[in-house]
Amino acid sequence: MPDPSALTVETFTRKHAAAMLDWFASREALIQWGGPDLSYPLDTAQIEAMLAETAGAEPSRWMFAGLVGDRLAGHVQVALDWRNGVGRLARVAINPSMRGQGLAQPFLREVTTRFFANSAFERLELNVYTFNETAIRTYNGLGFREEGVRRSSVKVGDARWDTALYGLLRTEWT
Ligand SMILES: CC(C)(COP(=O)(O)OP(=O)(O)OC[C@H]1O[C@@H](n2cnc3c(N)ncnc32)[C@H](O)[C@@H]1OP(=O)(O)O)[C@@H](O)C(=O)NCCC(=O)NCCS
Repeated sequence: MPDPSALTVETFTRKHAAAMLDWFASREALIQWGGPDLSYPLDTAQIEAMLAETAGAEPSRWMFAGLVGDRLAGHVQVALDWRNGVGRLARVAINPSMRGQGLAQPFLREVTTRFFANSAFERLELNVYTFNETAIRTYNGLGFREEGVRRSSVKVGDARWDTALYGLLRTEWT
C-alpha cells in the first residue's frame, strides 16, 4: 500500500497517457470522471485534444500526473479562466488499482497549492455528481464549499444525474 506522502506531482504529458486508457470500465465511469462530452472508451486522441489546450503562456488547461515511484497514480486537470482569475478542477482520478488508500487528498492539495501560487487566480471551483461520495469527501477535506446543485443536469442512458458546484477562494485556502 503506497504511503500518501510518497506521491509526487508533475506535468501530465503524452508519455503518461497510455497508463490511464483502461481506468474507466464503462461509459458511466467515463462520464463520472470527465463529463458527458467524452466518447467511450477513452483513447489517445481524446487525451491529445486535452493536451493541445495546455500550450502557450496562458493555456486554457493545466494537466497534472500523480506518481508513486514511476507508476501513474493520479490524473487531474485545471481549466483556466485567466480573465476572471478562476480555475475549474476537473477530471480528477486515482488509478483504480490504487484507490481507497488516501492518495486523492495529498494529490489535490499539491495541485491546489500550485494553482494559488499563481497570483492571477482567486477562485478554484469544480463540478461533481451528487452521488460521488468519495470525491465529495475529498473536496470537503480540502476546504471546498458546496455552492449549489444543478438538478437533473446530465443525461446518462436512461438516468439523469444532479451536478453539485463547489468553490474554494484564495482567502479560504491554507
Ligand atoms: C474520487 C477519487 C479520485 C478519490 O480517490 P480514492 O483513492 O478513491 O479516495 P481516498 O482513498 O483518497 O479517500 C477519499 C475520501 O473518501 C473516503 N472513501 C474512500 N473510499 C470510499 C468509498 N468507497 N465510499 C465512501 N467514501 C470513501 C475516504 O475515507 C476519504 O475520506 P476522508 O478524507 O474523509 O477520510 C477516486 O475514487 C476516483 O478516481 N474515482 C473515479 C473518478 C471520479 O469520480 N472522479 C471525480 C470526478 S468529480
